[in-house]
Amino acid sequence: MAASARRSLVWRILSILVCPLSANRRALLNLLFCRYWPQIWGTPLYWLQSWWLGIEQAAMPQVYGLPEIKRAPGARIVLGRRVQLNSSSVRTVAATLSGPVRLAALSASASILVEEGVGLNGTSITARSKAIRIGAGTLVGPNVVIVDADFHAIWPPDARAVSPAIESDADVTIGRNVWIGMGSMILKGVTIGDGAVIAAGSVVTRDVAANSLAGGLPARFIRSLP
Ligand SMILES: CC(C)(COP(=O)(O)OP(=O)(O)OC[C@H]1O[C@@H](n2cnc3c(N)ncnc32)[C@H](O)[C@@H]1OP(=O)(O)O)[C@@H](O)C(=O)NCCC(=O)NCCS
Repeated sequence: MAASARRSLVWRILSILVCPLSANRRALLNLLFCRYWPQIWGTPLYWLQSWWLGIEQAAMPQVYGLPEIKRAPGARIVLGRRVQLNSSSVRTVAATLSGPVRLAALSASASILVEEGVGLNGTSITARSKAIRIGAGTLVGPNVVIVDADFHAIWPPDARAVSPAIESDADVTIGRNVWIGMGSMILKGVTIGDGAVIAAGSVVTRDVAANSLAGGLPARFIRSLP
């Protein structure tokens, strides 16, 4: 069969399959695809990945797409029950993701501890030598970065590339039922109290009190909640 005849046959079959559906039905199918397909392919791959890397988990998390995970020997990555790991841009509801969930525990003393019911959306968490804890029920908006390190010394300038400033690494503790707005950064040594809200696009460099709204660059107290 000639190439053009083959193309027209394929086109006719596609038309028969697609045309009977109205645009709204096709849109609905697309929504269902976006919702479930990342979970269908992500779950078995994550199951394999988490077994291979020795992730400690109370139960299989809800996984959409495949997270990127690095665990140094001796480091701990611990996930509680009902954790959601959304690494899929098509699955996400609020805004979009610029990358998958990234969990990196880079040395034997590093740990990432994620409690029950936490939702991570394209969140990048890097624990170089300390502990990063996220309390139960906390929601992390798309593209949030959480780190326990600066990764380079501030001074002297010519040593930045080679001096890791590991002595300034510090634990990060995020309380229970915190909501971290999209695109925020939580830097080393910060504690965020239970129930706090971090406004979108904030850079959190100091502690945030429980049940308060903080935001901006650097994040400052805005008001008490409710
Ligand atoms: C945190 C948030 C929900 C607060 O909304 P809100 O209660 O309506 O707050 P308001 O708009 O009344 O703002 C209150 C104050 O905070 C300031 N503020 C609000 N968002 C801010 C931000 N992202 N950065 C800095 N300041 C901010 C406002 O300018 C205002 O200051 P003012 O009183 O001096 O005028 C909202 O600002 C936000 O960040 N929304 C995005 C949430 C998100 O990331 N969703 C993604 C899905 S998880």
